[in-house]
Amino acid sequence: MINNAPIGVFDSGIGGLTVVKEIMNQIPGEDIIYFGDTARLPYGSKSRKTVTTYTRQIVRFLMNKDVKAIVIACNTASAFALEAVKSEVDIPIIGVVKPGAKEAAKTTRNGRIGVIGTVGTIQSGIYNEILSKTNPMVKVFGKACPLFVPLVEEGLIDDPVTFEMAKRYISVLMDKDIDTLVLGCTHYPLLRKTIRKIVGEEIVLVNPAYETAKSLRDVLVDNGLINDSAHKPNHEFYVSDGAEKFRQFANTILPCEVKETTDINIEELG
Ligand code: DGL
Repeated sequence: MINNAPIGVFDSGIGGLTVVKEIMNQIPGEDIIYFGDTARLPYGSKSRKTVTTYTRQIVRFLMNKDVKAIVIACNTASAFALEAVKSEVDIPIIGVVKPGAKEAAKTTRNGRIGVIGTVGTIQSGIYNEILSKTNPMVKVFGKACPLFVPLVEEGLIDDPVTFEMAKRYISVLMDKDIDTLVLGCTHYPLLRKTIRKIVGEEIVLVNPAYETAKSLRDVLVDNGLINDSAHKPNHEFYVSDGAEKFRQFANTILPCEVKETTDINIEELG
């Protein structure tokens, strides 16, 4: 039965696990196959062409695993490649940008929204594009934070160096009178505490993961794809490098125990 097939989720590294966590919370009966492209991270400094090539390879890998739907749990790949790959597959595929933008548009009171993300996501202007379509009165201020992803991947989540960088990146947005800040990279919710210290209590931090899991649920319901078998959900984790490091990290993020992570050569798939 296709509705009992797994959901494919991917990111450049561990960031997409923030989305997996929400999927596990909101639709706990689903099996998940996760791929983290740890060998080729970061995506945020790469071109649209390269990120689209990587995305196509990963989508192929997940399709070979017979997934019933795919979540691009990476803002950069969602910004650069979602539209291109959508027309190439015959299963539902969603990204994280639209759900995040939707949530930000709902949240803001003064119409001034900050977005932090990778260089690719910010330069693509995708949040601005979607937010302006949702509400033309909204003003969007973007700031790329290129060092955040390597800091997170190195485990420097609660570290003075990360705090210093966050202060530098975010202070330029604090002058813009924003009342909402979108964490426009799936790695950033892991820095939430640090970011909160810098922005104070008044600014609402939007984590697109929550809305993404909600959108996924809606898509599964609309397509009759909700897993209705009475079973213990099965989750598989694959990476392109550093399986053990990834496994340990995953266990600090997810509500379930990750016993195994498998290294694969994604480029072999062509
Ligand atoms: N976590 C990804 C994102 O949401 C990619 C980070 C990166 O590899 O640069 O954009």
